[in-house]
Amino acid sequence: MSRTRIHNLSISLDGFATGEPQSLEAPFGHAGQRLHEWMFRTRTWAQHMGTGDGAAPSGSVGLDDAFAERHGTGFGAEIMGANKFGPPGWQDDPAWEGWWGPNPPFHTPTFVLTHRPRPPLEKEGGTTFHFLDVSPAEALATAREAAAGADVRIGGGPTVVRDFLSAGLVDHMHLVQVPVVLGRGVRVWDGLEALEDAYEIEAVSSPSGVTHLTFTRRDGA
Ligand SMILES: NC(=O)c1ccc[n+]([C@@H]2O[C@H](COP(=O)([O-])OP(=O)(O)OC[C@H]3O[C@@H](n4cnc5c(N)ncnc54)[C@H](OP(=O)(O)O)[C@@H]3O)[C@@H](O)[C@H]2O)c1
Repeated sequence: MSRTRIHNLSISLDGFATGEPQSLEAPFGHAGQRLHEWMFRTRTWAQHMGTGDGAAPSGSVGLDDAFAERHGTGFGAEIMGANKFGPPGWQDDPAWEGWWGPNPPFHTPTFVLTHRPRPPLEKEGGTTFHFLDVSPAEALATAREAAAGADVRIGGGPTVVRDFLSAGLVDHMHLVQVPVVLGRGVRVWDGLEALEDAYEIEAVSSPSGVTHLTFTRRDGA
């Protein structure tokens, strides 16, 4: 059965998945790249960026890589928020087509939740962006149909992740807690009191200093 999954969502010790303010020059605000440095060191990332082809593959192949590579397996659609798709104000720029260039790394139908939808945008490599102004449950129903039996990834950012968790729509979530304190930004946890009741939770510490947390929905929850 098609599951709804989140992978590699990187948060600070105080629960922020992005800093502030978000901008074209600094998509993660004052967080910079600190939330994802663990991932940039993995072989999965090197291959994702095309640097693992041909020459000897680079990047670590330990625990962090084992988690990182699950991000790419088994998905038939992605859902993301407007603030992941672009910096504040992208809706006013008809030429904005996302951060990812001509061949985005999604390779599936990708549904962008926005209150200012626009026509679908077909890119190379199987990614078509569809812009939806609907509830999380409606977005998931649409994405599930597009995924044709494969899983649906909730790609973030934290506002959309929180909304899907709050609506009880997430089957599995992999979070990476990074040992930095951001103090401000957009938090994942607000309003999700007692979320742990609905999930089996495991934690694994990596030698890199991050902690991988998996949340797997309990039967019947
Ligand atoms: N730490 C990580 O691993 C990670 C992962 C992914 C992204 N990020 C970062 O997180 C940041 C974005 O997160 P965010 O929490 O600010 O925003 P977000 O979750 O990407 O997007 C939230 C926005 O999406 C639109 N939206 C959400 N639900 C909607 C619905 N049901 N119907 C219509 N529109 C809806 C609204 O925008 P409008 O009202 O403007 O349309 C809302 O303000 C970026 O900096 C991104 O790079 C971090």
